[in-house]
Amino acid sequence: MKYALSINGKQLQAEVDPDTPLLWVLRDTLNLKGTKFGCGMSQCGACTVHLDGKPIRSCVTPISAIGNKSITTIEGISADAVGQKVQQAWKILDVPQCGYCQAGQIMAAVSLLKQFPQPTDQQIDSGMSRNLCRCATYHRIRAAIHQAADAVKEG
Ligand code: FES
Ligand code: FES
Repeated sequence: MKYALSINGKQLQAEVDPDTPLLWVLRDTLNLKGTKFGCGMSQCGACTVHLDGKPIRSCVTPISAIGNKSITTIEGISADAVGQKVQQAWKILDVPQCGYCQAGQIMAAVSLLKQFPQPTDQQIDSGMSRNLCRCATYHRIRAAIHQAADAVKEG
């Protein structure tokens, strides 16, 4: 079936089965490989993208469930003011280790900051708790979220 998709502000098309997970469409059909496959079972957060601004797990979201909603992936998050500050903080604090989980971490961090513009450590820990990092970069993730929050506040 043919699907018209709004991704990172562009109109794209994909011809796939209705039950194809969005992650497969992004990576295999549309060559947007920034979003990663981790567990494939909604457990790790590596595949997090935004659907109308809300974080979803693209590994368990069938393409047929997207409808007219807008998708944002890591490739498009710098167009968002908060996304830009988060990416800058990630670079300044050198957050990634192997990097594999980090696109999902950044997408989750942007959502967290939209909900809590000045999050406490506890809000960060609970908001980010479902995004796993095998390299245990959790300390730097937390510091980068605080730094991004301050940068957004300062404008
Ligand atoms: S790959 Fe989707 S949550 Fe792990
Ligand atoms: S940086 Fe390696 S899994 Fe998170």
